[in-house]
Amino acid sequence: MTHFLDIHKTDPAALRDMINSAHAMKTARRGLPKGTTDAEQPLAGRMIALIFEKPSTRTRVSFDVGARQMGGQTMILSGKEMQLGHGESIADTARVLSRYVDLIMLRTFEEATLHEMAEHATVPVINGLTDASHPCQIMADIVTYEEHRGPIAGRKFVWSGDGNNVCSSWLHAAGQFGFDLTFTGPETLDPDPRAVEFARAKGSKVEITRDPLEAAKGADAIVTDTWVSMHDPESARERRHNQLRPYQVNEEMMARGNPDALFMHCLPAHRNEEATNAVMDGPQSVIFDESENRLHAQKAILRWCLGV
Ligand code: CP
Ligand code: NVA
Repeated sequence: MTHFLDIHKTDPAALRDMINSAHAMKTARRGLPKGTTDAEQPLAGRMIALIFEKPSTRTRVSFDVGARQMGGQTMILSGKEMQLGHGESIADTARVLSRYVDLIMLRTFEEATLHEMAEHATVPVINGLTDASHPCQIMADIVTYEEHRGPIAGRKFVWSGDGNNVCSSWLHAAGQFGFDLTFTGPETLDPDPRAVEFARAKGSKVEITRDPLEAAKGADAIVTDTWVSMHDPESARERRHNQLRPYQVNEEMMARGNPDALFMHCLPAHRNEEATNAVMDGPQSVIFDESENRLHAQKAILRWCLGV
């Protein structure tokens, strides 16, 4: 079964093929109305279930539109409205859904839930974000970086803020695509050591520093994300804001990076918190290209999972 569970668990050659396929499919659609189907219909006859146990705008819409452009049919399911949210096991849900649909995309809380779904499903499972990672986002972000600046290998990325799920997927990508990553943030919010180890073992330079302006020196891209993720308790909000305020991406920080450094953010953003409006709407920002590229990258992921 070809699941797409994480960037570090996927063969690097397959990852590169998906990035190339995303670029090609994006180019082929240039200028077409969004509802136009692709010339090729590799998902014809396929039914895709998109399950959300957390809110979503981009993941939900981009998977739905992407599958339909390729001729597939989709259904969007809310975890709360399924028996899954009322005591039915993940394993039984996986077995039942596998009788109806050809692929399951799941956005959930614990990483273990995703793995249990993949273990018991007899159709491919895609990770649409867990507390621990967000691989579809980073595939789209690699498409975005490379369409603006060329090959990502050998570049220096700087992550400023919370070492969260999105940061872990960036570290996995650093290892698989051969770039370096400097993390800057408070010690209590350091990235997952397993992700740091993975990138280092693959030969990436991973640095951790508490000084955001020092970290930004020589950056090819500066990346951040919300200070409070969907899985973080509301009670942690004030403490996190106080700890993360020095790591806001602002014009001073962008000025320390290379002159052609990009600003990246997966969105949704809390404007003027983790990044200023001047940066988010400035000439170095590619945030809406990242959102668009979710569509193209995930179309490539769907095709890879289904072998079509
Ligand atoms: N970036 C991202 O996954 O956005 P959504 O939460 O809107 O899906
Ligand atoms: N880190 C964020 C990403 C949202 C797309 C979260 O998990 O809420």
